[in-house]
Amino acid sequence: MSREGVAPVPASGPGIGTPDAGLVVVKLGGTTIAGQERVIDQVADLARTRQVVVVHGGGARVTGWLERLGVPTRFEDGLRVTDEPALEVTAAVLRGAANVELVAALRARGCDAVGVSGVDGALLAGRRVHGKGLVATIMGVRPAFARTLLDAGHVPVVAPLALDEQGVVCNVNADDAAAGLAHGLGAHALVLLTDVDGVRGADGARIDSMTADDAAALIAAGVIAGGMIPKVRAAVRGLSAPGAHAVIADGGDPDAVRRALEDPGFGTRVVAGPGGARDAGPGSVPSAGGVAAEGAA
Ligand SMILES: Nc1ncnc2c1ncn2[C@@H]1O[C@H](COP(=O)(O)OP(=O)(O)OP(=O)(O)O)[C@@H](O)[C@H]1O
Ligand SMILES: [Mg+2]
Repeated sequence: MSREGVAPVPASGPGIGTPDAGLVVVKLGGTTIAGQERVIDQVADLARTRQVVVVHGGGARVTGWLERLGVPTRFEDGLRVTDEPALEVTAAVLRGAANVELVAALRARGCDAVGVSGVDGALLAGRRVHGKGLVATIMGVRPAFARTLLDAGHVPVVAPLALDEQGVVCNVNADDAAAGLAHGLGAHALVLLTDVDGVRGADGARIDSMTADDAAALIAAGVIAGGMIPKVRAAVRGLSAPGAHAVIADGGDPDAVRRALEDPGFGTRVVAGPGGARDAGPGSVPSAGGVAAEGAA
């Protein structure tokens, strides 16, 4: 498959390149719209004054549908191995149910949302994660397509699917997709909303701010686990340009989006350490964007 037009996303820093003062990439969790009314209000508000790209997850929802449809999936090292039947359900749920619901909810709030996946316009270029089937990490972004949407005043709502090197549709972790887009579009901020108030340390307390080195140590110690691993790695990749920042925060807070952008006491900020932004430690796929596939829907 031709990789023409792909801006590569490096496995490690520098992350966000020349920051676009306006652009914010917001990743929402994968729960239903009913659970996210307030955050969707806030995204619609933000989009009145800033360019916004929304990326959504949906792992729990995909799991529900796989079970309902009786499609067996197996886990290896905590990762779902995605075969063809599982990918079919994953694509249907993410690009179908989850994406259209979110687009409709944003449009109902006067936001000119347009649903795409990483497959549309070949927006997200993936690389297969060895041994996990149809699962990829993001190795590049075609910014021109997203720019066209943004410059026309649309809010792209991106489902986490990508094309691999052969043009095959793959499942990607939504945090990885958001980090790739933030990098590829030179976003000013990467906001990763989730269901916890931030990254917790060994004592269980929320960490205000962490460097890539802190993140690597906490992952190695097993303090950061599960879906928080790709999230922290994604935040690390979204670093390095002056003024750009990445935040992991609770999407359930009534003022989550504004606070993630403005309040240093809210969520966990991931900042470049003294050596600048780097990869967040072992487990990343070499040259494949630095975010392993833990939690890929
Ligand atoms: N050190 C940690 N601090 C905070 N949360 C952690 C930590 N280690 C593991 N976690 C887990 O990571 C989870 C967040 O990742 P998860 O992938 O489940 O959510 P999400 O990415 O918001 O949703 P989705 O994957 O559906 O988009 C938390 O709910 C928590 O259980
Ligand atoms: Mg997740």
